[in-house]
Amino acid sequence: MFYEVYPRSFMDSNGDGIGDLKGIASKMDYLKWLGVDAIWITPCFPSPQVDFGYDVSNYVDIDPMYGTLGDFDRMEDQGKKDSVNIVLDLVVNHTSDQHRWFLDSEKSKTNAYRDWYIWRDGKGPNQPPNNWTSLFGGSAWQWSDQTSQYYYHFFYPQQPDLNWRNPKVKDAMFDVTRFWYKRGVVGFRLDAVDTLFEDPNLTNNPVLPGKDAYGQPNQERKYNTNLPEVMQVLAGLRTVANQYNAVLIGETWTNTVEELKRYYGAHHEGIQMPMDLAFTKIPPPLSADAFRRHIAGVVGSGEWPVWVMSNHDIVRAYTRFGDGKNNDSIARVLAAMYLTLPGTPILYYGEEIGMQNNDPTRKEDVKDPIGRLGWPQEKGRDGERTPMQWDDTPNAGFTTGIPWLPIPTSYQTHNVATEEKEPGSILNFYRNLIALRKSNKALLDGDWVALNPDDPNVLSYLRRYKDQAVIVVLNMSPNDHNVSLDLSKQGFKNARLKTLLTMWGGGQSLPTLQLSPYAVYIGEVVKK
Ligand code: GLC
Ligand code: CA
Repeated sequence: MFYEVYPRSFMDSNGDGIGDLKGIASKMDYLKWLGVDAIWITPCFPSPQVDFGYDVSNYVDIDPMYGTLGDFDRMEDQGKKDSVNIVLDLVVNHTSDQHRWFLDSEKSKTNAYRDWYIWRDGKGPNQPPNNWTSLFGGSAWQWSDQTSQYYYHFFYPQQPDLNWRNPKVKDAMFDVTRFWYKRGVVGFRLDAVDTLFEDPNLTNNPVLPGKDAYGQPNQERKYNTNLPEVMQVLAGLRTVANQYNAVLIGETWTNTVEELKRYYGAHHEGIQMPMDLAFTKIPPPLSADAFRRHIAGVVGSGEWPVWVMSNHDIVRAYTRFGDGKNNDSIARVLAAMYLTLPGTPILYYGEEIGMQNNDPTRKEDVKDPIGRLGWPQEKGRDGERTPMQWDDTPNAGFTTGIPWLPIPTSYQTHNVATEEKEPGSILNFYRNLIALRKSNKALLDGDWVALNPDDPNVLSYLRRYKDQAVIVVLNMSPNDHNVSLDLSKQGFKNARLKTLLTMWGGGQSLPTLQLSPYAVYIGEVVKK
């Protein structure tokens, strides 16, 4: 089980209102208690913080705001003691405009680093080379006075894209991974991999109807995303990873299962864990049909799925799916689902205590630049990045200073210390679920079979491993429902249920389960 840590917001050890590595180290015992095997830490390298670390100015050091390399080693040692491994975030597509590679590149047309980035002439005075727009607003081309050319940036202008067609870029980045593997990290989460290559002819993208949040015509990013060359880079990174027995997780936004499958590689030479981020696009409200269909597709690919509900770029699932009345129950239903599927779940910090989004209400409070640029249509990502809620003291026990983002008042009830003490809390539910998942062969390695596939309200499935089976029954509706289950086709003709974990659904027996609103029932199927 993986867990995403946003270092600015996890735990502050020195009172400056910003989380740090010592803070993370001090919470390793908590992560162990929860059952976390590895944490993915979003970028903690030196950075001007235009994109809060996703603009890296040095890949082989730690930003002073987060600590030192020594603090990193101590954090890692603490993690080893608590069986929590470290995965770092590799920003492969671009660097900061303050990285020394770019500072050199920008100086002249002939310097050794010029071809490390993508420099082009404009089409004419004040005319960028083509119509490509940045995902973060405006043209994807930034004029530079020093050489009177444009450079390309898929994200902010302060994040110039590296030129992955230059073998020197590849070598340098592969070396970066070696540096950290040697230091003990067990893998990388690869940032924004689909943007690594662009059409060398700079063909204009097709324009689509409507405008984006920044007022620009929409376009199909046909010529600057998802080029086939991406797979070669991923396979190269994998070859290096294999030498260190490391894992590669991908930030892989896909539209179809075929696209997702491609990232594993036809012969598994790609990345081991491309995230199924399409899972986060399933629209609320909860729908048994929508989840069943999606899961069946991903599981049907035959690959090892990677399930994600929330992260630092999207509204927290608690807020997305909450109906304002049953939010905690709905959070448990979601947890019971994505932690009982085949594959690996990645939890976003705070998900396990029912943290909600705390979006800014005034433009002047926004920290994330896209929120200022796209306000009010795009409010930015501050809301899902607020400090971890450790207890009910001021600032939720995150800092003794002023937290860099405001903490929602729900921290008074939704925090680690309070929830640890309540047997029925979201936190204890997560913890019990994770423990169950780790100790149950069917949940770990079993196949997945949908039951009652036409039921629009209740999502039911079996996880089968040899002659063992676990049944998961999730009432995704605010009403009572009875479900009749016939397991004879699945090889369990005469069977009874032994409850493993439940919420509002105790004491069930076959063939008919009686479920109250948002009930969760997980049981072992025992042959009579
Ligand atoms: C990824 C990150 C996001 C960042 C972007 C640019 O999508 O998750 O936070 O802004 O890449 O690096
Ligand atoms: Ca700090």
